[in-house]
Amino acid sequence: MKVFVNRTLSEHGIKIMEDAGIEVVQWGEKRDLSSEELIRHCRDCNGLLSAGPNKIDRVFLNACAHLKVIALHSVGFDHVDVAEATRLNIPVGNTPGVLSGATADTAFLLMLAASRKAFFHHKRILNSQWGFFDPMADLGIELTGKTLGIFGLGKIGFEMAKRCAGAYDMPVIYHNRSRNEEAEARFNARRVSFNELLEQSDVLSAHAVFTPETRGRFDKDAFAKMKRTAIFINTARGGMHVEQDLIEALQKGLIWGAGLDVTNPEPMAHDNPLLQIPNVAVLPHIGSATSETRSAMTRMAAENIIAGLRGEPLPYPVNPEVGRV
Ligand code: DGY
Repeated sequence: MKVFVNRTLSEHGIKIMEDAGIEVVQWGEKRDLSSEELIRHCRDCNGLLSAGPNKIDRVFLNACAHLKVIALHSVGFDHVDVAEATRLNIPVGNTPGVLSGATADTAFLLMLAASRKAFFHHKRILNSQWGFFDPMADLGIELTGKTLGIFGLGKIGFEMAKRCAGAYDMPVIYHNRSRNEEAEARFNARRVSFNELLEQSDVLSAHAVFTPETRGRFDKDAFAKMKRTAIFINTARGGMHVEQDLIEALQKGLIWGAGLDVTNPEPMAHDNPLLQIPNVAVLPHIGSATSETRSAMTRMAAENIIAGLRGEPLPYPVNPEVGRV
């Protein structure tokens, strides 16, 4: 059995597959494969372990319908045509749970960085602008007792709520399709409508799954309903906010600040106006980028590969309805 891996991943994860007798071919170049190249590399493989943005779309799936398993090195699967994979009877797996803490840390970091204009102040030092002390210039805002609003309170949102409630006694409100009883019991979290979330949050952090329903959810109208003192955080997917509307909302003072680990498009252009706004902190999609988390993700992906190649149900399935037993 042979597996194609479209990135260089942790040796430990690769070894798990090799120890199971799988031949592993890794893409070593520091550039994305084109769709055609990915198809070509998968032609003589039985499985694909895919990290990063390569689209697993209808064209790819039909060209590689022979694959016994596709293991994603991510929890998100918005870049995969899951319905088509299911139709073709290809099991797809992901890496849920293990990156919740690291991603919530990133949201928390962005909240703090935006609230204290940290990246802006860092840039001042780099630009030799750490000079005259002006006690009233470029002040931040404090977070204690401010209301945290969570859009999509699942595992990552729960970890964000834990950090904010623990560090700053932040009351938690959330907007979900269904209730999160654990968060209600643990943080006294209150489920609200989307409009109430917009109107009442001091920090609004997006953690929802990216779907047609959540695409562009934070647009001009949404930002206009938020508090002028609010901070918007997005560590989910860049497509959940309309970037031009966010820029305008910040420039017009409709909201106070923003922290983004995800942008639209990615990578963000180096001259994007968001990078010049003092109350904005942007990171290059590093939510899960710790050694511990990335290594756990590789292990889970390897376990999905092994199960799929053996025709067993995947331990972390996206489309469990695909029966291969
Ligand atoms: C995920 O796991 O979905 C992260 O955002 C990495 O893409």
